[in-house]
Order: sequence, then structure tokens, then C-alpha cells
Amino acid sequence: MSPPPMPDADELACLDELIADLSPQADQLLPFLHRVQERLGHVSPAAMRFAAHAFNLSRADVYGVVTFYGDFRETPVGDTVVQLCMAEACQAVGARALAAHAEQRLGVPLGSSTADGTHHLEAVYCLGNCALGPSVRVKDAVHGRVTPGRFDTLLQLPTTNRSRS
Ligand code: FES
Repeated sequence: MSPPPMPDADELACLDELIADLSPQADQLLPFLHRVQERLGHVSPAAMRFAAHAFNLSRADVYGVVTFYGDFRETPVGDTVVQLCMAEACQAVGARALAAHAEQRLGVPLGSSTADGTHHLEAVYCLGNCALGPSVRVKDAVHGRVTPGRFDTLLQLPTTNRSRS
């Protein structure tokens, strides 16, 4: 199996900037990966290769960390990440119907990004807001008791007759 590519010049400049004030210790890997995820929207194979070299770890070590934590993505997704809680408490108060609404309004199934790259819709299993389900996280903010109409408002989607409830 061939190694992942090296970062291109732009990505390398960004990675150099993000790592500049971190020590080359393994315990700095997570803070670095969070910075990469936040700045670039994902942690590319090239960024993982860069991190392995910078922190003196194997590529397998870095890949293991990236794939273990759900916050890290290996490929770019839509600009606005929309997470629908599909865990038990939220399902008991309408999460499935809300998910169907979200899929219909955004035109993509859970786990996908819209064709125009504006949104990424995905299921998660508990947002720590169980008493106020159905719960939805849009970017970094968690919202409770989300109705279809409120979902459209949160995403600033145009209102339809079906989504006013
Ligand atoms: S079950 Fe949905 S927030 Fe916990």
C-alpha cells in the first residue's frame, strides 16, 4: 500500500501555522488535530502523515485517533454540520419523523452532504440534551424540542406548508 500524499504547499503552510506553538510531544496530537479539523473542516491523509512525522508517531497511531473520535472527519463535508440525535429518548419524542423531514428538506439522506456543499446531515447518538428532545446540533449549538418548522428556522430554510408545526 502506498503512503498518503504529502500536503500541498497551501495545506503545508496551514499545518505549519497550526503546529507552531505546540511542543512535539504525543500529548499535543489531539489539540493539533482539533485545530486542523476546525480550520480545514477535515483531517486529510496528508495532514495525518504530517502529524505522524511532527509528533514522532506512526501513521497508524494518528489514523487510530482520527477514526476513534467522532468529531474528526477524513474528508470534507458540507459547511454547516447538522446532527440529529437518534438515540432512544429523542426517538421517543419524534426524532425519526424529524429526520425524515430533514432528509426531505435538504434532499439528502443522513450521513450525506448537500450537492451545493452548504449542509452535512448526520445522525448522532445523544447530544446530552435528552430531556428536551428531539435534539439537534447545528454547528456548535444544541437545540431542544425541535419541530420540523423550527428545524427550517434554525437552518434558515424557506418555510413550506408542511413544515410550520
Ligand atoms: S437521547 Fe437525544 S440528546 Fe440524549
